[in-house]
Amino acid sequence: MSVTSVVGLQWGDEAKGKIVDFLTDSHEVVVRYQGGNNAGHTVKFDGETYKLSLLPTGILRPGVKAVIGNGLVVNPDALLKEMKSLTDRGIRVDGGNLLVSDRAHVILPYHIVEDAIFEKRSGNHAIGTTGRGIGTCYRDKAGRTHAIRIGDLYHRETFRAKLDEIVAFKNLTLRALDPAIEPLDADTIYSNYLDYADKLRSHVVDTTAWLHRSLKEKKNILFEGAQGSLLDVDHGTFPYVTSSNSSAAGIHSGSGVPQRAVTRMIGVVKAYTTRVGGGPFPTELHNEIGQHIRDVGHEYGTVTGRPRRCGWFDAVATAYGARVCGVDEIAVMLLDVLAQLDEVCVCEAYDIRGERTTDFPSHVEDLEVAKPVLRKIPGWKQDITHARKLSDLPAGARRYVDTICELLGVPAKFISIGPDREQTILL
Ligand code: IMO
Ligand code: MG
Repeated sequence: MSVTSVVGLQWGDEAKGKIVDFLTDSHEVVVRYQGGNNAGHTVKFDGETYKLSLLPTGILRPGVKAVIGNGLVVNPDALLKEMKSLTDRGIRVDGGNLLVSDRAHVILPYHIVEDAIFEKRSGNHAIGTTGRGIGTCYRDKAGRTHAIRIGDLYHRETFRAKLDEIVAFKNLTLRALDPAIEPLDADTIYSNYLDYADKLRSHVVDTTAWLHRSLKEKKNILFEGAQGSLLDVDHGTFPYVTSSNSSAAGIHSGSGVPQRAVTRMIGVVKAYTTRVGGGPFPTELHNEIGQHIRDVGHEYGTVTGRPRRCGWFDAVATAYGARVCGVDEIAVMLLDVLAQLDEVCVCEAYDIRGERTTDFPSHVEDLEVAKPVLRKIPGWKQDITHARKLSDLPAGARRYVDTICELLGVPAKFISIGPDREQTILL
């Protein structure tokens, strides 16, 4: 039996979807355990491109059960639309292959309004959220009083009573923050959400109990992380993070599967670094090399279309992510994007106010002044998208991957040199 986890070690967008899809053949269950429709996972499959946001990547494979665990925040309208976009293309999505936890929290219209208001009022300190109401829903989850879980939608009377109370409170606070805001109408929300609940009924189960049975039946289970370890609310670059445990720390809390059940922990890293939204980024390149990486790597957000900030591979930050997750191996993605550069750099340490360190700072005030200590490696200046085994790679590209592995202290088991499945070197 194998219980595998695929987790991003940087600030998200590490091309986790490709590795999850790659491993799905050998797994019967694929589980998302945190986040919501802030994630954007692109999978190329049978010549088609699928962009998934809330649905686990496993949904694309016949025979695989896709699970939305208790740790997610679910926007039911977005979920239903995403499900329909797949069924319209002939992909099966029904109660037999998509399970949604009755413990997952529900994103309601006011969460999206609040997300926008908080961002607007934060000025220079805006987090640069995806605007999907993710953080505000998690805020209500932690606050408890104003939280609605998926299972609550099926207890009509208590749901109605709770919604009335919440909407009255939200209208009061939202109107105080911005008098121009249209008041929310509890009747409309109630009827819309009952309708969503009805459409989702066949999917909603106690996924924790279901996963425990799967473990007992020795099913192969794959955990699909969204975002990346440096966006983890506890371990990331707080407050410029997402509101969930997007490192491997979230597996246990977000699925009910004990951490020790995981037998293989794969960390996914991009061969360089990107970030969307605000927050410090020591290796960011504000020059033509950064723009070159953005152009060649198509570094524009899947969810919001924002241009991603690009920079050199940061081994200090990524090694920290690898330690937090306890990864056994890494997958190095998008190596082909660097192919035309004269020289490639890897940040091997930070200089923080004159002191050299390989520890990742706890506070953004320190990370903001961290100067990257760069190790320079000559570029290989050669197309590598046709490589299929390690020996097909030019010596420079091999040396680059070796440097990353050495600095992370973890071996690479996959090298991706293009978006297609075949463009993957297995080690
Ligand atoms: P995938 O799964 C990259 C970032 C946002 C913002 C911060 C908080 O595709 O790797 P949120 O809307 O979550 O409250 O925004 O987190 N962010 C991501 N960045 N990839 C993602 O997901 C992200 N999901 C959220 O840009 O900086
Ligand atoms: Mg993405």
